[in-house]
Amino acid sequence: MIQSFPSRIVLELTPLCNLACFMCPRHYIGEKDGYMEENLFLRLVDEVAQENPKAVVLPFWRGESCLHKLFVPLLQYAIDKGLRIHLSTNGHFMSEENCRIFYQCEFITFSIHTDIGYQNALKLIQNKPKDSQTTFQISFVDTEKTTNKYLQDCVRDSSLLEFDSVRLYKQHTIGGEFGKNGEKKHQKRHFCPKLVHTFVVSSDGYFSRCNHIWEPCKEMNLKESSIKEVWHSKIMQKIRQEYPDKHCDPCDQWSGHTCGEVWNKKNGQIIHKIFN
Ligand SMILES: C[S@@+](CC[C@H](N)C(=O)[O-])C[C@H]1O[C@@H](n2cnc3c(N)ncnc32)[C@H](O)[C@@H]1O
Ligand code: SF4
Ligand code: SF4
Repeated sequence: MIQSFPSRIVLELTPLCNLACFMCPRHYIGEKDGYMEENLFLRLVDEVAQENPKAVVLPFWRGESCLHKLFVPLLQYAIDKGLRIHLSTNGHFMSEENCRIFYQCEFITFSIHTDIGYQNALKLIQNKPKDSQTTFQISFVDTEKTTNKYLQDCVRDSSLLEFDSVRLYKQHTIGGEFGKNGEKKHQKRHFCPKLVHTFVVSSDGYFSRCNHIWEPCKEMNLKESSIKEVWHSKIMQKIRQEYPDKHCDPCDQWSGHTCGEVWNKKNGQIIHKIFN
C-alpha cells in the first residue's frame, strides 16, 4: 500500500511568517527560524523530478514561503523541471516576480487572514494572463474574522469572483494540538493516508511523517540522505508498523473531518461539496 516514492512532497522554504494568525499552530512550535539552503532545495527537487516526476511539490509548511529571499529562483527551478507546484500563501507578497511564479503554479490557494490578503487575491485573479493554467483557490478557516467578512461575498457571486474554487476549512487544532476538538472520536480508525503518500522536509533538512506533526524528527537529515532513503528508513517503517503510535494516536486528521467545504464551478454551475 505504501507508495515506492511519495507523491506529495512538502519542501518548507521557511517557518518564518509576517503574520501571527491566532489559530495557527506556529505559536506552539519551538524552532521557527531559518531558511532552506539553496543547494538542499535544488537537490531535493532533482530527486523528485527523477524518481516521481508527476509528484506534487508543496513548497510551504509552517510559515510564509514568500519570505525566502530566493523564493522566485527556487520555485522557477522546480517549475522548469516540470514539477507540479501547489502553494499556499497569505497574499502579502505580490511583487511582479512573485506573481509570475504564482501564474505558473498548478494550484495556488490564497489563505484569507487579512483585508490586504483578500484585496491582493482579487487583484491577482483580475490580472490573470490568458495563458495561465493555474487553478486559483481562495481559502478560509471557519473561526477567522475574515471568514465572516468575506466568505459570503465569494460564494454568492455567480462566478465565485473568478476564482476556480472557494474553500472553507474547519479549524484543525486547539492550542496547537490536533484531535483536541473531540469530534469524530466514535469513528473506527483506519490507516492514515498521509503515511502512504506524503513526505515533509523542514527548512533545516529534518523530516516529518506528515504536515500535521509540526515538530520534525531529528533522527535523520535530508542534508545527508535522499528522500528515498528516509522514506524507506527503519524510522519510517516503524512509524507505519506501529500506527497509531503515541504521536498519531491523539490526532484526528486521518479521518479528514476538518477538510471542510468547497465551492467549485462545473459547466457554468456552482457545486457545493461538504467533505466527509
Ligand atoms: C500554516 S499556513 C502556511 C502557508 C501560508 N502562510 C498561509 O497562510 O497560507 C497553511 C494553511 O494552514 C491553514 N491553517 C493555519 N492554521 C490552521 C488551523 N488551526 N486550522 C485549519 N487550518 C489552518 C492556513 O489558513 C493555510 O491555509
Ligand atoms: S496561517 Fe499562514 S499566515 Fe497565518 S500565521 Fe500561520 S503561517 Fe502565518
Ligand atoms: S494520524 Fe495524524 S499525525 Fe499521524 S500521520 Fe495521520 S495526520 Fe499525521
